[in-house]
Amino acid sequence: MVRGTATPQLAAPAQKGPLDFSAWVEVDLSALEHNLRSAQRRTRAQVVPILKGDAYGHGAPVVAAFLQARGCTTLGVSTVEEALDILAWTKARIMLLAPPLPGQLPAVVKHNLIPALTSPELVPELNRLAALRPGGLTVQIKVDTGFGRLGTAPEDFPALLAEIKQASHLHLGGVFTHFSAAAGDKKFTRGQLQRLLALREAAPAGLLWHAAGSSAFLTLPESHLDLVRLGTLLYGQAPLPLDSSWQLQETWRCQARIIQTRWLPPGHSVGYSRAFRTQRPLRLGVIPVGYGHGLELEPAPSPWRQFKHAAFRALFPKHAVFHGREPLPIVGRVSMGLTCLDLTKSDLQVGDTVSVGMRRTVVSRQIPRLYYFRGKLKCIFWNHQLFDTRGRKISLRGLF
Ligand SMILES: Cc1ncc(COP(=O)(O)O)c(C=O)c1O
Repeated sequence: MVRGTATPQLAAPAQKGPLDFSAWVEVDLSALEHNLRSAQRRTRAQVVPILKGDAYGHGAPVVAAFLQARGCTTLGVSTVEEALDILAWTKARIMLLAPPLPGQLPAVVKHNLIPALTSPELVPELNRLAALRPGGLTVQIKVDTGFGRLGTAPEDFPALLAEIKQASHLHLGGVFTHFSAAAGDKKFTRGQLQRLLALREAAPAGLLWHAAGSSAFLTLPESHLDLVRLGTLLYGQAPLPLDSSWQLQETWRCQARIIQTRWLPPGHSVGYSRAFRTQRPLRLGVIPVGYGHGLELEPAPSPWRQFKHAAFRALFPKHAVFHGREPLPIVGRVSMGLTCLDLTKSDLQVGDTVSVGMRRTVVSRQIPRLYYFRGKLKCIFWNHQLFDTRGRKISLRGLF
């Protein structure tokens, strides 16, 4: 089974840039391109990369510029804010997967975003604003075919369609839905697809119909329709087991340097609440990454889940930190910005680098993103700025 845990392709970074960073995320753009091409080879539909959640933690501005240079003419995000974050750096054609708020409509029109409409309420104001834009504005309808979250109910689709038809400055470009259980429930997913396609009769010709994210892309080829919206797969992770013809490549890894080592005697406690005590002399290493950056972030567990989790952990200890393939056990509680490691069996020194397993979408932007292309460091995004490999500020224009 491939779950995006392939060994990252990158060599240890010859880190250059504005600082000698103590922790950073490496993004392998060649791997991203490889995954994109692998998906494109498997469908006739247009692949629209999804960049919500800061491009799943990869840093949306650079990923947007890179994917556009690789021929992706449209990108998808959830909110207007996410779109503006990209547009502050690079021009892009962006579809919104969630409806904008009424107060965001001027920005939608100004930046020529493709909003998802889920009810007729926004249409008159959007139409009025769109009159100011030569050529008007393209919109899409999002239909809730069973997810139970965003979208118009199928039975309300005709009314929304009629409202948009009357709005002379709005052009309906597409109709889409989102699957709730494409990885596991094929029957339900097929039902969702049928509910979407049943609306085609009432709709004009020439629209883009879309439904599939990564899971349905794999499980239900008939759901590819005109366009597929892919996130997870492009970023090198598989939502379900892949056949061996797929060779997804890992696009992301977090690295940190050891900032202190020290021997502790037996019986010494480590970290907050004294939750860990040494049984023997222990060589402690500290890395400057903690739960505030996304390490060991777990949803607040119910007592039952807490119990299951503890039992599972006791049987199969989880190592979030590695040096090469060598696991480095975390000792004590992960704190906000620091984590302690047991280095007793390792000769790692201050300044040496370890890989830190993190939930990628929550890794804070304080951690710099180092972008590699064809094995070479290309640029660094840090502190809201972009740097070249010598630490000089640059723009994204013409970089890819
Ligand atoms: C509406 C919509 N489409 C597509 C996607 C991409 O999904 P995936 O990451 O599974 O490819 C998402 C992500 O959550 C989404 O919300």
